[in-house]
Amino acid sequence: MSNNTPVYLDNHATTRVDPDVFESMIPWFTDNYGNAGSGTHVMGTAARDAVESARQRVADAVGAAAREIIFTSGATESVNLAIAGAVSRQPSGQCVVPETEHVAVLDVVEQLERQGLSVCRVPVAAKDAETPGALDLNLLDEVVRRGTCLVSVMFANNEIGTVHPISAIADIVHSYGALLHVDCAQAIGNCSIDVTTLGADLASFSAHKCHGPKGVGALYVRRQQRIVRIDPQVFGGGQERGLRSGTLNVPGVVGMGRAFELASEQLVVSSKHMAVLRAKLWNLLVDAIPGIHLNGPPFDSGVRLPNNLNVLIPGIDGSTLLAELSRIGVAASAGSACSSEQPRPSHVLLALGLSEDEVRQSIRFGLSRMTTLEEIQLASERLQAAVQSLGAA
Ligand SMILES: Cc1ncc(COP(=O)(O)O)c(C=O)c1O
Repeated sequence: MSNNTPVYLDNHATTRVDPDVFESMIPWFTDNYGNAGSGTHVMGTAARDAVESARQRVADAVGAAAREIIFTSGATESVNLAIAGAVSRQPSGQCVVPETEHVAVLDVVEQLERQGLSVCRVPVAAKDAETPGALDLNLLDEVVRRGTCLVSVMFANNEIGTVHPISAIADIVHSYGALLHVDCAQAIGNCSIDVTTLGADLASFSAHKCHGPKGVGALYVRRQQRIVRIDPQVFGGGQERGLRSGTLNVPGVVGMGRAFELASEQLVVSSKHMAVLRAKLWNLLVDAIPGIHLNGPPFDSGVRLPNNLNVLIPGIDGSTLLAELSRIGVAASAGSACSSEQPRPSHVLLALGLSEDEVRQSIRFGLSRMTTLEEIQLASERLQAAVQSLGAA
């Protein structure tokens, strides 16, 4: 690692493209650049075959059938298609979402609410609870029974790492005849996912969160046991079974297929690796920084992503600390990358009951399977130096 390379611990925002993934994409930019929709010549049919093989790889990695996978531009688009597409078929029911969902979910739901949809936002367990960020399933049951058409729950939270019990949630949702959408953006490569056994009706995925390229994602739309119907939100050439018109990003789709294949092949080893390094980082920080506090569920709760660490350092402003860390070579963040252009205090930490001051003193680290012990040691040293220079330790 060169001295100028920052230690990259912002893997919830995005991950490094795996060199193997990159290799798999190159021919689809250079030699085989045909449109997957061009059936009249060999360059088009080769692109189509590559897309279909990637679709199978993505499906295999998430426990779906290939015909249940629709390629999109990323999890944001998948989430929008799932929620707006499902609601457009059943506009009279209510939509239920936990308060700690990603803005991709919260904002589309808010937009639909302006158009007349009834929305119920469910609180989560507070910071002092056994598992902060967890859903109370009795409360969920009570809320869903009031004429719900769709529930959207993330598999795992992108800020504090809380993993939700999707199968149990699916049982509740289905017992009232509603549909369940699961935002799996942060789960691939960190958790085992089988959409069929989980009971998801719709599930959103992104390639760039698991060492794939940016700008490509997928939506799972259940077609086994029962057929889930949604309305398209983008119109045009009728690609992706009419659910997502637009020329497919063939290199991106190929890269996503390889990234998902690698993520599932390496899941057991990489999740253990990340959990060990995350514990190491936490232990080093606890020893060095008085008063440092963990936001989110304990590591041994079994319901926290193995790569997530979110900490509160009393007396230190998070954005000042992040700027200093960036200067001395650590890339971390305050929360969701998607809202960092318009910084507002994290709605996730506020939902746990942290005060605005506590939220401002919190920062998030995200590890990946590529993170090394050397990087963790360096990050810890640099963080201690930054905290010292800002005057708390
Ligand atoms: C939980 C969650 N959902 C959705 C998204 C949006 O993903 P994409 O960047 O692929 O649009 C993100 C990205 O941070 C996320 O963490």
